[in-house]
Amino acid sequence: TPASASPHDASRTGTRQYTADDDHTAVWSRADALKLKQDRTNTAPRVSPDFPVMTDKVWVWDTWPLTKLNTQTATYKGWHVIFSLTAPRSVPFGDRHWYAKIGYFYSRDAKSWKYGGDLFQPGTSFGSREWAGSAALIGDKVYSFYTASGRDNGGVDPNDALQRLAQATGKIHADKNRVWFSGFRDHRIIAEADGKMYQTLEQSQQGPIIYAFRDPFVFRDPRDRKVHLLFEGNTGGTAGTYQCTKRDIGDVPAGHEVPEDAKYYTGNIGLATATGDSMENWKLQPPLLSANCVNQQTERPHLIIRGGKYYLFTISHKFTFAPGLSGWDGLYGFVGPALRSDYRPLNGSALVLGNPEDAPTQQYSHYVMPNGLVESFIDTVPTADGGTRFGGTLARTLVLSLKDDRTRLAGQLDYGFIP
Ligand code: FRU
Repeated sequence: TPASASPHDASRTGTRQYTADDDHTAVWSRADALKLKQDRTNTAPRVSPDFPVMTDKVWVWDTWPLTKLNTQTATYKGWHVIFSLTAPRSVPFGDRHWYAKIGYFYSRDAKSWKYGGDLFQPGTSFGSREWAGSAALIGDKVYSFYTASGRDNGGVDPNDALQRLAQATGKIHADKNRVWFSGFRDHRIIAEADGKMYQTLEQSQQGPIIYAFRDPFVFRDPRDRKVHLLFEGNTGGTAGTYQCTKRDIGDVPAGHEVPEDAKYYTGNIGLATATGDSMENWKLQPPLLSANCVNQQTERPHLIIRGGKYYLFTISHKFTFAPGLSGWDGLYGFVGPALRSDYRPLNGSALVLGNPEDAPTQQYSHYVMPNGLVESFIDTVPTADGGTRFGGTLARTLVLSLKDDRTRLAGQLDYGFIP
C-alpha cells in the first residue's frame, strides 16, 4: 500500500499514489533542476514595450479568475470575473506589495476588463495587506481565500513578513451594466504555519529570501471528493538547520557539489484539507512537493486535472534558486497520477515557460487554466532606448499544449484573455 512505501522506494516513474493525509512529499531535486534549459518550447515571446494598460487607477499583478471548485473558470449572469492584487498607481511599482488589496474586474468578452474596485470593505480583512488567493463560486456565494500578509493593522511595513491564510464569504450580484459584491464580513484566519511541516516566521529569521506561507488555491479533488487548498510554504524548522538529503540532491552528475548554503532554500507546495463542505475548518497536511536545497519559493501553486493526470504548477524566480543552480522567472510544473503522488517534473526539469534572457523580468505570476491558457502580468519590460517600462497590467495570454509529461508553448492570444 502507498502508505508503507519508503521514500527511497519511490521510483521516478510517477505511478505511486497516496491519500491526501499520507505523509509522502514528492521532491523537485537538484538533479532535475540541473537539467533546466531554455528552448523554443518553453521560452516566452518578448513582451512588446507598447502594451496597453487595463486601468490607469491601479497597478495589477497576481490575478485569478472566479472558478468553480473543479478549477474551471465560472461566469455569473454572462459576466466573466477576475480578481487581482492591486495598488494605487501613485505608489512606486516596486513598493506595491506593501499596499496590496484584492480588486476585481468584470467583462462580457473575457478580455475588455472593467475595474470594479476593492473586493472587501475597508478594515475588514486580516493582515496589513492582502496577497494572492483564489475564489470559488457556489450558487451565488463566493468563497474568497487570500493571504493575510503582515500583522493586523501593521500599516505599511516591508519588514513585516508574517503570512497567514484567510477566508471570507460574500455574494455576487450582477445586472446588465455591472458586477458587484456584498458580504465578506466574516473574515477568518484558517491556517497558520505550524513550525513542523511548515516554517513559522520566527524560524525563518536567518533565511536568505522572504519567507512564505501564502497563496491559497481552492479546489475539490474529484477522487476523494474533499475540498483542499494548495499554498506556498517553506519546510518547517529553523532556517539553516535543514540537511539536504540524497533524495533532494537526486542523481546528479559526478563532481556536482552541493554548496553549504543550499540548506537555506526550502520552498514547498503545501496542502490543507477542509474537514467538511462548509469549508469552515481546515487541517494542515504534509507538503505535496518540496524543493529543499533547490529553490526557496514555489509561489502561487495551482493545478489542473487532465486525462486523470494531476498537473501541479508553480511560479518561481531566477534569484530564488539555491546556489549552484539557476533558472528563469516563470512557470514550472509537475505531473502525477493523483493529488498526492510521485510527481515528476514536466519536461524533465520542471521548466514550462521562462522569460527570455534579454527580458528576464518581463512577466510573472503565470496561472494555467484547465483549457491550457496561461494568464500572467507584465512586470518590467526593456524598451528600445535602453530603459524599462513597468507593466502592472495583464500580459498576452499564452497557449500551452500539454501531453503526458511534456509541455509546449503553442501560441499567444489577446492581452488578459481569461475565458
Ligand atoms: C507572486 C507573489 C505572491 C504573493 C504576491 C505579493 O507574484 O509574490 O506569492 O502573494 O506576489 O505581492
